[in-house]
Amino acid sequence: MLAVHVLNGPNLNLLGTREPATYGAVTLAGVEARLRARALAADVELGFSQTNFEGELVTLVQKAGLAGAGIIINAGAYTHTSVALRDAIKGTEALAIEVHVSNVHAREEFRHHSFMAPVCVGVICGFGVASYDLAFDAIVPLLRQRAKPAA
Ligand code: DQA
Repeated sequence: MLAVHVLNGPNLNLLGTREPATYGAVTLAGVEARLRARALAADVELGFSQTNFEGELVTLVQKAGLAGAGIIINAGAYTHTSVALRDAIKGTEALAIEVHVSNVHAREEFRHHSFMAPVCVGVICGFGVASYDLAFDAIVPLLRQRAKPAA
């Protein structure tokens, strides 16, 4: 069975109450519930985690990547600072999509750069929590394609 792991970094546990004008009112549990419904319909196993610790996020990326699962990652502020996360995605050859709730390019300049983006298949940002749904819909066909035996 295909698997997708949704990995959330620092402060995303505060989704729903943190800066609602920027991040909206849906909680992380709400994001998970929406994705569980999608995963069920697509017959995909879903992993969903959140951590405030960079090293733990690296370990989660490694585990998902080495298991061949697709990764949807909102690394929060570590997006803009972490070479270790980039190396974990690259080093495990993980199929990963970077997501953000907010449009990071319409915000402060320090949010415009992502260390992970070059080693992800794509980046989805600015659609509120629907960024996760869009990433899920994008990653499933890519995983199915990758799982196909070479002709
Ligand atoms: C975020 C954007 C990041 O710049 C910020 O540090 C976050 C949330 C987003 O989902 O919009 O924590 O990743």
